Amino acid sequence: MGAAAGVGTLAGFTPTKFAIGQQAKVRVGTLLPYSGTYARLGEAITNAMQMRFAQSKEMIGSREIELIKLDSEAAPPKATENTSKLINSEKVDFLVGPVHSGVAMAMAKIAREEGVMTIIPNAGADQITGPLCAPNIFRSSFSNWQPGYPMGRVLGAEGKKRVVLCYWNYGAGQQSAQGFKDGFAESGGEIIKEIGVPFPEVEFQSVLSEIASLKPDAVYTFFAGGGAVKFVKDWAAAGLKDSGIELTGSGFLTEGVTEAQGAAAEGLRTTLHYADTLDNDVNNVFRRNYKEMWGSEADVYAVQGYDAAEMIRVALEATDGDTGAKDDMIKAIENTVYDSPRGPFKLSAAHNPVQNFYLRKVVNGVNEVQSIAVEALSDPAKGCRLG
Ligand code: BEZ
Repeated sequence: MGAAAGVGTLAGFTPTKFAIGQQAKVRVGTLLPYSGTYARLGEAITNAMQMRFAQSKEMIGSREIELIKLDSEAAPPKATENTSKLINSEKVDFLVGPVHSGVAMAMAKIAREEGVMTIIPNAGADQITGPLCAPNIFRSSFSNWQPGYPMGRVLGAEGKKRVVLCYWNYGAGQQSAQGFKDGFAESGGEIIKEIGVPFPEVEFQSVLSEIASLKPDAVYTFFAGGGAVKFVKDWAAAGLKDSGIELTGSGFLTEGVTEAQGAAAEGLRTTLHYADTLDNDVNNVFRRNYKEMWGSEADVYAVQGYDAAEMIRVALEATDGDTGAKDDMIKAIENTVYDSPRGPFKLSAAHNPVQNFYLRKVVNGVNEVQSIAVEALSDPAKGCRLG
């Protein structure tokens, strides 16, 4: 998918519901990666948003949606300029993004100052639904702490004693590791080593040698997208798959990438707020529609995009499409309680999803649900003063 962010004919003009006798389109700007190691994540989010909007065209305050896509390149140094472009030049009514926590930190600062309605469809930076929370910023995804905590609980309960943590060394990896440590803490086990790899590096040979020599019971990882493909394949190629060391991670390790990982992914256990095989009506219909529309399998990123679009739909429906009625839109999103493909979905007072976390296992290339690892898990949201 190409990223397009050209300034259109509406530059300098704020579209409103009542513009020139007809209803202007609602402008939804996406700041997502359409290139680089996270490109497939950005594409899945965008595809599912488009699907949700297409399904609900007549229901959103009778206004159509126009998507304005901008490639974030998962590059924090470009985030401020890109966010300003969407808000000030493209004059978007809603901002949807990003995937990368570092981009999110810069984006959220501006979104907060400008008061633009913002939905984060992936990036888990804990601060955004913690000390930096804001009335106009919502998340349809997770906080980084959330997927780590259940895996710590699972391995702790199974009696794993010596664990290595290995992650891309930026906010997302560090916070995911902290979630794991919090979940593992009560088990009496020990984190024997933390290995950080600079993002987006995918040179894992020395890391794998170090893990092999440490001989832990298990490794907890945070990698996603192209990096996750490479790590899992390198793990198997290094002979670690049959070494007795269990490779685990947040579910991003195997999410949307099992086809590319092939046999190397078989048997891997991870925790996440979604699994391919969740057998509820909403998920079954969602997966069927997504496959029909895009020709590929849906994944958690698609679910998060779908639910971001659903939040926008709820806000517009509540105000009959009046994007100036921000307080009413905020209230409507805050009160959203609905059946998502991931299962029951509601937001905490800090605007982060309260959701089930599933223990999954890759079987025949599919992330199969094994059990609910932690039910209705809320982020600690330390320092948030909303609600
Ligand atoms: C993050 O940077 O927050 C992130 C990126 C990919 C997957 C999950 C989290």
